[in-house]
Amino acid sequence: MPAVVVVGAQWGDEGKGKVVDLYARYADLIVRYAGGANAGHTLVVKGEKLVLHLLPSGILHEGKRCLIASGTVIDPAVLLEEIDAVEARGVNTHDRVFLADRAHVVLPLHPILDGIREQGTGALGTTRRGIGPCYEDKVARRGVRIGDLLRPETLRARVSALYHHHAPFLAAAGVTAPDLEQTLSTMLRMGERLAPRIVDGTPLVSEALTAKQNVLLEGAQGALLDVDHGTYPFVTSSHAAAGGASVGAGIGPTRIDSVVGIAKAYATRVGDGPFPTELFGDEGDALRTAGAEFGATTGRPRRCGFFDAVALRRAAQVSGLDLIAVTKLDVLSGLPRLRICVAYEVEGERRDAEPYDGLGDVTPIYEDLPGFEGDLSSARRVEDLPTNARRYLARLEELVGVAIGPVSVGADREATADLADPFDLQ
Ligand code: GDP
Ligand code: IMO
Ligand code: MG
Repeated sequence: MPAVVVVGAQWGDEGKGKVVDLYARYADLIVRYAGGANAGHTLVVKGEKLVLHLLPSGILHEGKRCLIASGTVIDPAVLLEEIDAVEARGVNTHDRVFLADRAHVVLPLHPILDGIREQGTGALGTTRRGIGPCYEDKVARRGVRIGDLLRPETLRARVSALYHHHAPFLAAAGVTAPDLEQTLSTMLRMGERLAPRIVDGTPLVSEALTAKQNVLLEGAQGALLDVDHGTYPFVTSSHAAAGGASVGAGIGPTRIDSVVGIAKAYATRVGDGPFPTELFGDEGDALRTAGAEFGATTGRPRRCGFFDAVALRRAAQVSGLDLIAVTKLDVLSGLPRLRICVAYEVEGERRDAEPYDGLGDVTPIYEDLPGFEGDLSSARRVEDLPTNARRYLARLEELVGVAIGPVSVGADREATADLADPFDLQ
């Protein structure tokens, strides 16, 4: 009963979409376990780009089933738009895309609340997709769930209570609340369209595992954006780390076999929060341009910096990584020197393992390796890579203490070295 988790090992946008699309050929069921339309997972197949926010990244593999599980928050309008967009590309989604009835609904009110908060002093640089406010309502036990879209009376009771709850905050901010009746009619209409796909998520995943099918659990965001284990408060509001896969998919941790972490060959972050290896000025701009580092969801320029092995060690602990897939190695081609942050200096002392939050001033301690040149995109085995690229990977592996598996050398599905079946890891 192999279940494999694919999780971001940095601050999101590591290339999870690409890796999940690659691994989907080995899977029977692909499950998105956390987050919402704050995610933007990019797939490039034969030069054609597809950005997914809610649909699992196995969607292009026709015979495979996809579940958006209970741990997610779903904006039905975004989901329907996404389903229509992939259908228009000739991808059948009927009888293969399912939603867990326990996933929470992102209502029109949620992005409004997110936007108001982002104008205040506590701004975090969120995606403004309503993710934080929706998870808050969930935990406060006043949320609306996907299954409620099929029960008009329950929906009315829940949405009106929720709107009533938030009314004073909106009024104080001088913002007009969305119209309740309009919200209800839109939600019911969308619920009707989604009805054939709404299922009880746990038996779907559990029975697939019992039938010895391969289940790929797709994370969103990254371990360092996890609400418990990330750089709090500059985090998202869900369990983005691998532990979230068990809760989010509704299966016990005993049923998960291995965890693959995705890490860029350098580091990026969108939104605010600590980022010790961040590069500013020309160096940062050069990396941003070379890596096309602009958000897949918001289009914001991503902050760019050197690979942070301290951060990766932390992510490896938090998510129990068995293997790391390194992406975007090609982006570093042509740099005269490759820098890796191996430790931090904090108040004059060297620290090899230190979480970011609450640290104050952190100075990265760097190690430099010689750079490499040339177009890597045709490498299909790590041994095809230039010697210095292999030395860089070997050093990352050593510093993080986790084996490196596939290495991505271009955005396209094909541009991958050492791809192997992750269900064979155990
Ligand atoms: P995700 O959120 O983790 O799925 O990552 P995103 O899709 O937000 O961002 C990763 C970006 O890098 C996308 O534009 C991908 O097409 C691109 N990408 C993925 N792997 C590679 C790679 O190996 N090389 C290059 N140059 N681009 C890549
Ligand atoms: P994928 O799945 C990168 C960041 C936001 C912000 C913080 C909180 O594509 O890797 P939120 O809207 O979740 O309340 O924002 O988290 N963030 C992401 N950064 N990739 C993502 O998703 C992200 N999802 C949220 O920029 O800093
Ligand atoms: Mg992304």
